[in-house]
Amino acid sequence: MVSYKELGLVNTREMFAKAIKGGYAIPAFNFNNMEQLQAIIKAAAETKSPVILQVSKGARNYANQTLLRYMAQGAVEYAKELGWEHPQIVLHLDHGDSFELCKSCVDFGFSSVMIDASSLPYEENIALTKKVVEYAHQFDVTVEAELGVLAGVEDEVSSAVSHYTKPEEVVDFATRSGCDSLAISIGTSHGAYKFTPEQCTRDPKTGKLVPPPLAFDVLDAVMEQLPGFPIVLHGSSSVPQEYVDMINSLGGKLPDAIGIPEEQLRKAAKSAVCKINIDSDSRLAFTAAVRKVLTEKPGEFDPRKYCGLARDFMEELYKHKIIDVLGSDGKA
Ligand code: 13P
Repeated sequence: MVSYKELGLVNTREMFAKAIKGGYAIPAFNFNNMEQLQAIIKAAAETKSPVILQVSKGARNYANQTLLRYMAQGAVEYAKELGWEHPQIVLHLDHGDSFELCKSCVDFGFSSVMIDASSLPYEENIALTKKVVEYAHQFDVTVEAELGVLAGVEDEVSSAVSHYTKPEEVVDFATRSGCDSLAISIGTSHGAYKFTPEQCTRDPKTGKLVPPPLAFDVLDAVMEQLPGFPIVLHGSSSVPQEYVDMINSLGGKLPDAIGIPEEQLRKAAKSAVCKINIDSDSRLAFTAAVRKVLTEKPGEFDPRKYCGLARDFMEELYKHKIIDVLGSDGKA
């Protein structure tokens, strides 16, 4: 048993309380590799933003859970080396799908876990979430739960249809499960194709899709039921069109990739939404950089050259999200 406190990590409790009060959101960035982690920590250290490092099921399969945990431990030391005296870093399990997995993360030094039982019937979701909460709270590890179903695909989490969260269920769910934060469904979804062309209109000038707005009425109703309770938004990449265009112009094929407009995320960040999950955007930044280097210099075979540019692109992206979208700069 290793406590996250020994590793210099923090849980989400105080972070979320401050974010709700201050009208900003904490960035929750997924990581799978060293370059991504370096970019996240550099961006957070330079902007003095609290940050959540997320480990998904796909990341665990790709990079190994043990290695990722030690990388997060190293990230705390790296942050200090960068001059961030008291780093506010959370190590979070993204989309945990069983009690055993959540327990193994708690025992291994994670400071926060998500139990995603949103695809189960309501009572089973409550029962499993409660079981995880009872275990995690013994070690002061915070627990995120989910109510409602997001559409889209991310790693091994997928759903063909979305069901908005029912505001009339949230008080009962939060009270009986004891969760510390709640991910809700208001129209965001995982991946780089958040809406079908049929759900959008098309800008006649640019030919680009214009997505429908998020269901802010559902968010407002949830906040009315649970005043001051931490709300989480998954599937919140904005799918920056400059990266999509760069990828497409360099031989890629991402037709009609579309995300959540940043002004809508900015609006959400000012509310009780205090954690915003972003993964796909950094994949796009990484891919754009790799395509650029390999297209411009076909003779290049040093991975440090294309992964190095990918790291630069991701760092710039993370800083932009922190400063211009979530407003968490200067809060750590
Ligand atoms: P995106 O695919 O929109 O980046 O969402 C990531 C996410 O929600 C991770 O849980």
